Amino acid sequence: MSEQLIRYAGPFVPGVARSASGSFYELDDGRRMLDFTAGQICATIGHNHPRVVSAIEQACRDVLHLNSWVLSEPVLRLAHRLIDTLPPPLDRALFLSTGGEANEAALRMAKLHSGRFEVLSLTRSWHGLTAGVSALTHAGGRSGYGPTAPGVFALPAPYAYRCPIRHCDGDCDCSCLEAGFELYDQASVGSPAAAVAEPVLSAGGVIVPPPGYFVRLAELCAERGMLLILDEAQTGLGRLGALYGFELYDVVPDFLTLSKTLGGGIPISATLTSAEIEQSCFERGLVHVTSHVSDPMPAAAAEAVLDVVLGDDLAGAAATQGQRLIEGLHEIQGRHEVVGDVRGMGLLCGVELVEDRATRAPADTLGRAVTDECQRCGLSINIVRGETAGAANCLRLAPPLTISDDEIDLGLTIIDEALTTVTARPSAAVAAVQT
Ligand SMILES: Cc1ncc(COP(=O)(O)O)c(C=O)c1O
Repeated sequence: MSEQLIRYAGPFVPGVARSASGSFYELDDGRRMLDFTAGQICATIGHNHPRVVSAIEQACRDVLHLNSWVLSEPVLRLAHRLIDTLPPPLDRALFLSTGGEANEAALRMAKLHSGRFEVLSLTRSWHGLTAGVSALTHAGGRSGYGPTAPGVFALPAPYAYRCPIRHCDGDCDCSCLEAGFELYDQASVGSPAAAVAEPVLSAGGVIVPPPGYFVRLAELCAERGMLLILDEAQTGLGRLGALYGFELYDVVPDFLTLSKTLGGGIPISATLTSAEIEQSCFERGLVHVTSHVSDPMPAAAAEAVLDVVLGDDLAGAAATQGQRLIEGLHEIQGRHEVVGDVRGMGLLCGVELVEDRATRAPADTLGRAVTDECQRCGLSINIVRGETAGAANCLRLAPPLTISDDEIDLGLTIIDEALTTVTARPSAAVAAVQT
């Protein structure tokens, strides 16, 4: 049956899902899959949370969708509730559907407000695949689609395990950031508009910037009159152990974008900025309307997500359970030579696989084989970009923030056993599993 579908990102995972609840989804052959990807890193409050289900049911009785210029109670309430969780000057909200759209809005507003067009983003970043933000996305999806938007410059990601400027080893001292701005200053045609970054670079290999990184980034931006856009698609609403990633780095961006985790599985995203920027964009005739902007049903779902995240202190849970997860991963590293690096923050963790710990040669075929074996044994995990473009050797673990101790331990056991099974295979068999 899947032959009728366009394969939008490589092959599909075997099996057909029929239901989901909490940390698990169930396949039509009856197998229960422990979901260490929280859907597509969206279901932070667990699958099909009853509060979200009842908010959607209520919206079905009230109103699902409206003309894009007509407002509704759920949208007004969500704006109020969300802004209540944010520091000044982030007090204006726009609600769209996807992460790419929220970043497009921030980008367009930054350009309109500043009257300039140059934008910086980090190598290994992912900000979406719509035309504007795909130019800012470096972790994949670039080749074969023609030129990207002009005026975009890359800053080297603070990837301490493989320092992009061959300067640090293990602990990043932010030299990459200074070097990146030096290059930008020489290449600029004098139109600095904005810099965009994720608090933790997830798709690029779960790269955790060092303390002080975003304070310095904000300073470098301010010196040039650039606006800082933080993309918290994955890190917003608790995943890193604080409600927002920016809190952990002591900065307040000019724009905050939220998406995946905001709807808990329902497509809704938000672009947040200051009253000053909103007013200036309005005066300059901002147009960023979409069919589903300000839709009431997703806003009702997002309000339910916010209730659960705040009411159940899921940011606190992410900090505690993240500690358990990363300690277990370090133990696994002690048992498996192929685990080169373990890193993460809260419940967003990465395990980088290498051929050899001394050379750090990336184990590109092994990564796919381990995720396939985990899948076969009932654990869903992602593999994300490693060292070489197009290759993937970093296991990414991002379970729901509601995950229990036993579920974490079960996931760790499956990963441990999958590594044992796959590394015991002759290397030709490992490669064969990949295809
Ligand atoms: C940090 C980040 N920003 C933006 C996006 C794009 O979101 P969407 O796929 O909803 O457009 C993603 C998707 O993975 C992401 O991880």
